[in-house]
Formats: sequence, C-alpha cells, structure tokens
Amino acid sequence: MQILTTAKALRDYLNSFENKHLSIGFVPTMGALHSGHVSLLENAKKHCDLSVCSIFVNPRQFNDPEDLKRYPRTPEKDSALLRQHGCDVLFMPEVEEIYPEKPHESYDFGRLDKLLEGAHRPGHFNGVAQVLSRFFNLVRPSKAFFGEKDFQQMLIVKALVSQMGLKMEVVPCPIVRESDGLAMSSRNALLSEKERQLAANIPLWLKMAAKQLIGSEIEVVKQVILNETLNHPELQLDYFEVCHPETLAPFSGKLNGRAAIALIAIYTGKIRLIDNIQLNS
Ligand code: PAJ
Repeated sequence: MQILTTAKALRDYLNSFENKHLSIGFVPTMGALHSGHVSLLENAKKHCDLSVCSIFVNPRQFNDPEDLKRYPRTPEKDSALLRQHGCDVLFMPEVEEIYPEKPHESYDFGRLDKLLEGAHRPGHFNGVAQVLSRFFNLVRPSKAFFGEKDFQQMLIVKALVSQMGLKMEVVPCPIVRESDGLAMSSRNALLSEKERQLAANIPLWLKMAAKQLIGSEIEVVKQVILNETLNHPELQLDYFEVCHPETLAPFSGKLNGRAAIALIAIYTGKIRLIDNIQLNS
C-alpha cells in the first residue's frame, strides 16, 4: 500500500494508472476506521482496478468546534487495517495541503441541504462539498463509495457529482452494524459504557417504527419515538423524520405503501449519532 500525503505525489502516482485506462475506486473517510469503512474498501476492490482511500478530518464540515476537537484520530491503526484489507493507495494529507487558502465557495443543493442534517448542522454539507470537490478533482475516480448510514450525505454527493459535471458513479453501500444492531460509527468510540448500552436502542426503535408505520400515522409514530427517548435523561432526540427516499421531503399521515426512509439523529450524552431504515412497504 502506497501512503501519500501531498496532492502532487498522489497525482503523479495515479497518472500512470490513468494512462493504462485502469479504473479507480475511491473511498473518502475521516479515519478512526471500522468495519463499515472496510466494507466500502471491499466494494471498491471488487468493482475497480485500483482502490484509493483517503483519511482527512475535514475541519470545514464540523459546525461544532468541540466535535472537531474530540473526533477520534487513530492513523497508525487505520493504515494497518487498510493494508490488511488490501487497499492500494492511502492518501493522508494535512489541512494546508487541501486548503492552502480558506475555501469560500458555497454550494446550493436546493431543499436537500436545508433538511434534516442540513437544518441541524448549519454549514455541514457545504464543508462536505468543499472537501469532496477537491478530492474528486484530485483522484478522478470512476466510482466513489459512500455508506447509506449517512444517507443524506450520499444524496448530496450524487447532486455534487452532477453539478460538477463528472462522469463518476456514486455507489451507495449498506449500513454495517455491531452485533446488537448499533450502526458502526467512529463516534461510537467516544460513548461511555452506559451511553453505549443506551445507543443500542436506536436501531430497535427504528425497527419498531418501521413496523408501526405500516398502519399508523407518521405523527403518532413520531410521538412514540419521542416518548421512548424521554424515558432516558441521557438521550436527546434531535429529529426523527419519515421522508421520500430520493428527495428526503418529509411525509405526513399514513404511508399507504409509499417507499420511504425513516431517519433519526439523537444525542447520547454529548455524542450525536445518526441512523436510518428504509421502508419499502
Ligand atoms: P466518515 O464518517 O469517516 O465516513 C466515511 C464513509 O464511511 C461514508 O461514506 C460513511 O457513510 C461510511 N460509513 C460510516 N459508517 C458506516 C457504516 N456503519 N456502514 C457503512 N458505511 C459507513 O462521511 C465522512 O466520513 C465524511 O463526511 C467524508 C465523506 C469523508 C467527507 O469528509
């Protein structure tokens, strides 16, 4: 595995592959890697000739400075894991390499970046678009792999790729979960034992909601979820919404067989976790 830290070294390395018309699969991450990230790499290896992973804790997408400060950083462990799983190229740049100047561009994704995470984390998706536009221009992948755990991000990335006029394919990959159902996340490492136990309720509530949504009104199910979280003072519900699976426009009333996605964001102590479940009833 090649470990590269500068844009120039990365371009020099990738040029020779591009010249041979080999396909490049790209997996952007912020490190503190787990099996969810590894599943993206495995997909990249399956579908492309060369796999490129990046590890870059992107300061532009953190709306909360405390969240940025405490974000877990485990570069040695990460590079060992990627090497073990057959990653070809690991790109680990410093902040100055990606942002020699403060980025100013601002993106508009219509309603998509104003809802859910966009509404609750102002500037977050603009920061994601700022870093990914730089990475896509640098790596020039044929396919890039994104987890459905960050479902809204995956849709934003599709919109970004189309705005940038790239031919690249965005490949959504299923959520990888712990044995008790909690969606894997780098932030899980920051939970206390008690918080970790409580967090295991999140996927259970999503499953319960999915069942109830078959016959009940969305508003009723929302209240049930809110009540569940109110039983635990350590938890604070940020949102629970049932939305159109492509536009994320919120639904109301009964689903009546419409395809939908239920998305949740919840503070477990100070740590904000997100998850979702697709409803194809
Ligand atoms: P990060 O949170 O490190 O996630 C990197 C990729 O791993 C994302 O596509 C995310 O959806 C995916 N992922 C995380 N947990 C997963 C799980 N349990 N199952 C499947 N996939 C999972 O998302 C980011 O970084 C950043 O916003 C980034 C795209 C790198 C831009 O900075």
